[in-house]
Amino acid sequence: MKCKLHRVFPLLLVTAAFSLPSGRPYPNGDGLHQAAFQVHGVSEESFLEWELPPDPNSTHHLIFDSVSGFLQRWPNTFRRNGHSIVPAVIPTGTVLYHGRDDNHVPDVPEWFAFDFEHAFLFGVSTCYVMSVQAKRDLRLLYFDGASAAKMKDGPMDTQDFVAWRKPRPDKHFSERERINALCDWGKPFGVDGFVRMEFHFEVMICDVLDGLEVVTLLDLIPKNVTAPYDRPLVDPPPRPPSRPAPPPVVPPAGWRGSLPGFGRIRFEAHVAGGWHDLAPGETRVQLDYTGLITFYDPALSSLVEARQGKDKSNYRLKGLSAADTARVHAELQSVLTRKQGTGSSVDWGSIARVVVERYADRLEHLRSLLSPNATFKDAAEQAFTARSLLVVMLAPYMTIVDVPQRLPASANVSWLAPVVHRCATTQTSRIPLGMLTPQEVLIHAAVENTLREICRRLALLWVQFFDVEEADDAMAAEVIEEGHRHIDELMNWLGWSLWVRCEPACGLGENCYLPSWPFLKGDDPYDMTPRCIIPEEAVRE
Ligand SMILES: *[C@@H]1O[C@H](CO)[C@@H](O)[C@H](O)[C@H]1NC(C)=O
Ligand SMILES: *[C@@H]1O[C@H](CO)[C@@H](O)[C@H](O)[C@H]1NC(C)=O
Ligand SMILES: *[C@@H]1O[C@H](CO)[C@@H](O)[C@H](O)[C@H]1NC(C)=O
Ligand SMILES: *[C@@H]1O[C@H](CO)[C@@H](O)[C@H](O)[C@H]1NC(C)=O
Repeated sequence: MKCKLHRVFPLLLVTAAFSLPSGRPYPNGDGLHQAAFQVHGVSEESFLEWELPPDPNSTHHLIFDSVSGFLQRWPNTFRRNGHSIVPAVIPTGTVLYHGRDDNHVPDVPEWFAFDFEHAFLFGVSTCYVMSVQAKRDLRLLYFDGASAAKMKDGPMDTQDFVAWRKPRPDKHFSERERINALCDWGKPFGVDGFVRMEFHFEVMICDVLDGLEVVTLLDLIPKNVTAPYDRPLVDPPPRPPSRPAPPPVVPPAGWRGSLPGFGRIRFEAHVAGGWHDLAPGETRVQLDYTGLITFYDPALSSLVEARQGKDKSNYRLKGLSAADTARVHAELQSVLTRKQGTGSSVDWGSIARVVVERYADRLEHLRSLLSPNATFKDAAEQAFTARSLLVVMLAPYMTIVDVPQRLPASANVSWLAPVVHRCATTQTSRIPLGMLTPQEVLIHAAVENTLREICRRLALLWVQFFDVEEADDAMAAEVIEEGHRHIDELMNWLGWSLWVRCEPACGLGENCYLPSWPFLKGDDPYDMTPRCIIPEEAVRE
């Protein structure tokens, strides 16, 4: 087979990472039975019992999901209660925007947008937008989730924990108080501000003139707030309960025709947020994974308890004990004060994305092939098709000796242990744990154990599908049904937001929208079914 490929695709093989015979042969291909092994959480021995499911209290998949979704709007909208605090940098030269009612350069902490479209929402009767540029690297903390959603039930928990040591639903509209408290807290650590997300990312800057330089501060054409659809969004400060209707817009002298309508401006702010929906996300912020603090840390036992019986979209920091609170604050201090350059330079976000890229579409495809709704001639054809996709997914890890010693393959499944081990640990096994910070060790375990469960489920299918081509129709149907259950359970456990999409995809000029604060008219904030919206629908409640 190899020789044939050489003849047919010589160029392809040279350009791919494929080594022609040279160098020394490597024993057993992967050193699986060699001594020096680096594993965390999962030992080589534990793979002898590879079919054991993960602990129901395990949070590896939740930490993995956070890491793979950082700074992307879609995953953080889908699951809005963030559980991570990550040191971050906005590099020198980055341009930010700030919209306001007057032409003053703020001398108090303020909110800045990454895209003009977001800043343009602010300012009512007059509209000034200033652009500023970082004149040095800005040192920030990033709160994941929809951490700028002014909601009582969780999105602001992590920042309130930093500012006030506990969630403060009573203060969910006290944004001025919140920014002041955060900046006061951060000052001794040299923190310049905080990155959050609503329908777009934003950055709270503590001292505007310290790290930023004004590029422009412009008196822009006014917005037609009376016309399109409703009143302007003012955030912050909060809207008083009954605000008088805004006066009709006065166009600038000599202006002809319509002014930009407010609904359209809001829609475009959503559109600009959507530019950062998926990886690589908001690239103007660079994360320092070595200092990632996660409230999914299994050491925080009070939260393990608080999560019992709850859906993962509703996980919160409520119930964090005094001891665990002190523990996380101490960890945060240690992360912010230790020597720069501690830890590895492993790009954990990229490793997590490799896993998602490799499995997201294929798992979804496999589930659809195994679905009772799939259309095949008969169960045999369906099983054959699903089996071939399964082989594609496991091929990188199956050697010529990884075949069952006797049939049925399920008689003793230990023959699959090396396959599951390679599948679960190739990304991580040779990263020396000694070079990682305690925070990175958690990410390492998250990647490895998330992969372990993916690989465990695929291997459980392989046990059944290995010999399915010889099975009769009733047997094949049984195997298909069980396979569907496995992949369905796996996808529920992983809970990746990539599987939530607008279907069919939105047309040009439309925007795929998940309910996000401040909610549009008709939204149920807790129904995460996405839909395509057009500018006319960008109306607030
Ligand atoms: C503002 O909107 C109203 C309602 O659509 C419209 O009648 C008016 O002409 C608009 N004014 C400008 C200047 O765009
Ligand atoms: C999970 O955590 C809860 C709360 O701490 C505990 O009662 C339960 O025994 C744990 N389950 C397992 C399987 O360890
Ligand atoms: C099969 O299709 C029906 C109707 O469209 C749907 O309700 C059901 O959830 C589907 N079943 C599976 C397993 O996808
Ligand atoms: C399964 O096979 C492995 C390796 O051949 C062996 O060590 C183990 O004892 C077997 N397990 C059972 C339950 O027979």
